[in-house]
Amino acid sequence: MKIIYWSGTGNTEKMAELIKNGIVEAGKNAEVTSVSDVNVDELLKDEILVLGCSAMGDEVLEESEFDPFIDEISSKVSGKKVALFGSYGWGDGQWMRDFEERMIGYGCSIIDTPLIIQNEPDGNEQECLDFGKKIALA
Ligand SMILES: Cc1cc2nc3c(=O)[nH]c(=O)nc-3n(C[C@H](O)[C@H](O)[C@H](O)COP(=O)(O)O)c2cc1C
Repeated sequence: MKIIYWSGTGNTEKMAELIKNGIVEAGKNAEVTSVSDVNVDELLKDEILVLGCSAMGDEVLEESEFDPFIDEISSKVSGKKVALFGSYGWGDGQWMRDFEERMIGYGCSIIDTPLIIQNEPDGNEQECLDFGKKIALA
């Protein structure tokens, strides 16, 4: 499965790599791709999408690449299972609650509770690995 992410300073990217390791440990294939390199047609062949973006702006998804990507796939993801994750700084996770609600609105079902981690995933490695394992079993 494919893990698509946007990350400004590498925190969400680190989460993506750890989640990948969890998926692989659980026996499934996974690859991590920056949203700037995603092939949308290929991605949409998958039943499960793993999507990560940090909290940007004022509690929103990153607006120049990631948000337009979500808009682009919005009409084509109904029925898919999605797992959501991202790093944040000083907020309370509102950006991720909105992201989850948005994907549900597009007809997706959400795998587990979206995984949010404050700043770097240092000390939270196991949480990321476990999240990957749950995705692999979904
Ligand atoms: C322009 C900008 C806007 C941000 N807006 C928020 C925000 O609204 N809420 C929040 O909790 N953190 C916010 N942050 C903090 C980042 O989400 C946090 O530093 C995160 O760890 C960055 O992850 P990344 O390296 O994957 O981009 C913002 C950071 C930047 C640079």
